Amino acid sequence: MPKDWLEWHDLYNTEPKLQQRLEIVREYISYSLDNSPTGSIRVVSLCAGDGRDLLGTLANHPRAKDVYARLVEINPQLVERGRATIESLGLTKQIEFINGDATASANYVGAVPADIVIVCGIFGNLADENELNRLLGNLSFLSKKGAFVLWTRGHSNGVASSETVRKYFREFGFDEVYFKLTATGDMGVGIHRYLGESLTVLKEQNLFVFSGIPNKTR
Ligand SMILES: C[S@@+](CC[C@H](N)C(=O)[O-])C[C@H]1O[C@@H](n2cnc3c(N)ncnc32)[C@H](O)[C@@H]1O
Repeated sequence: MPKDWLEWHDLYNTEPKLQQRLEIVREYISYSLDNSPTGSIRVVSLCAGDGRDLLGTLANHPRAKDVYARLVEINPQLVERGRATIESLGLTKQIEFINGDATASANYVGAVPADIVIVCGIFGNLADENELNRLLGNLSFLSKKGAFVLWTRGHSNGVASSETVRKYFREFGFDEVYFKLTATGDMGVGIHRYLGESLTVLKEQNLFVFSGIPNKTR
């Protein structure tokens, strides 16, 4: 079992569930870029890891030059790795990788509201459904009207937690664009569209509490 989040990323080399999840997330990022209006596309990624989902997609996407992104990640080694990838792609003028707390709204000022919001590997690390609801509510700060929100949610002990996530997105008035389970059957990946107005001032400075530990594939 991984001891830290850097080690957790090594599971991408061996775990079919994570590899399939990454493939679907990249497909959905690509879809979101293809379906964004002409001109610049703003992207934010929360708890971005080493950014392989977004950066791996931009490596081959015709709209890469339109993307202005901010990735927020707390582990400095993952950020360093992500920054090296950004440099190798020649995207340093468009993509910022912030080493900071993704739960703090202050870290998104100047980058939101975004056209694409990536919240992968987070929902399984929230304490409970109240916290999930709080984060879904706070997406109105991060998202433009019509923004694509990409998310993942793993299942454990036979509980289809991704169905709970889909239910709450529905209740919040998001439109489901796509949802898929990995071939392993225990990881859900979705895209929802935010249909509300974006909220420029947040009631709280903390968007959610990340309470997970890297002891399972999320
Ligand atoms: C399950 S991993 C997901 C990484 C990436 N989004 C992915 O799907 O590959 C969770 C990530 O959240 C990061 N993290 C945990 N707490 C954080 C915080 N408060 N602010 C920013 N990142 C955080 C961890 O370091 C880890 O890289």
